Amino acid sequence: MKKILVTGGAGYIGSHVVKALGEEGYELLVYDNLSTGNQWAVLAGRLVQGELADRSALDRLLMEFRPDAVIHFAASIVVSESVAEPLKYYRNNTATTLNLLEALQAHGVNRFIFSSTAAVYGIPEVIPVDEQSPLLPINPYGTSKMMTELLLRDLAVANPLFRYVALRYFNVAGADGGNRIGQAYKNPTHLITRALKTAAGSYPELQLFGTDYDTPDGTCVRDYIHVDDLASAHVLALKSLLAGGESAILNCGYGRGYSVREVVDLAKKITGVDFTVTEEDRRDGDPPALVADSSLIQQLLGWKPEHDDLEYIIRTAWAWEQKMAGSI
Ligand code: UFG
Repeated sequence: MKKILVTGGAGYIGSHVVKALGEEGYELLVYDNLSTGNQWAVLAGRLVQGELADRSALDRLLMEFRPDAVIHFAASIVVSESVAEPLKYYRNNTATTLNLLEALQAHGVNRFIFSSTAAVYGIPEVIPVDEQSPLLPINPYGTSKMMTELLLRDLAVANPLFRYVALRYFNVAGADGGNRIGQAYKNPTHLITRALKTAAGSYPELQLFGTDYDTPDGTCVRDYIHVDDLASAHVLALKSLLAGGESAILNCGYGRGYSVREVVDLAKKITGVDFTVTEEDRRDGDPPALVADSSLIQQLLGWKPEHDDLEYIIRTAWAWEQKMAGSI
């Protein structure tokens, strides 16, 4: 079976992909510094704790494991934090990926899947946004990921053996259908997690950031994708690269937007808790609307989402919150 190195595989999205790859029988090595990931979340393969910036550790790992492909999740991901601490994002997202790519080139590893983001589009002029839309990120998080995409593009030109798939994630949410893994950040900032933790009593109120956007109800619109559907996109991308497929850049979303108010209302309905919502100013770095045109990934990889249902997303996240209650 093919050997896959998964950086950041103990994190939220990485662990769901590791689960899916384990079910497919791949031999997995998860490399994670456990800064936001958790050992218990790694349901398949072997976990090695380490830093991507540590080139000699990477060299040892690559020499010993000799992966056929790498899936690279390890990154910092909070848009608002990136505005306050941009250098952290250029280091953790751009510079460490450069370090990883240099090591992979030295060891002849030429199959790479990259966690990119819808944040590379900034404020798109056309919604839903397709992959040809200009890259005009409005926050350091998006810029740090865009810069990595450019590294990959240029490397693929220089080295024709190198093939990559960059998956541009929209708003990933929900938890494992079997309720074994889910989001487990110490200070979560994502809307669905914050809303559910507020319903569970961990926070006194949910702050709603911005009610004066040029959107139908004045709040931001996002395309929420279930994490297991995102995991299946990675499995398909990997199979394509391993079968000799071309490099590609692909949106991962459902093509349907929900406003913050709609998400909050559904969270209240599902939890049965009428939690307090306070209306606040806009949060730095938030674009008004991000909705994917995902026709390319469906065409190229035959991706068929199974959980295109905000209610299922919130229900699985809620089941997970209740299981985790108070332990994070
Ligand atoms: N929001 C609130 N209150 C909260 C949390 C969020 O009102 O407590 C609002 C935000 O202001 C935003 C929306 O809910 O309008 C969604 O915010 P999230 O923090 O859940 O997600 P983001 O859209 O900021 O970012 C996420 C990922 C990024 C990715 C982006 C792509 O974290 O990596 O989706 O759409 F780039």
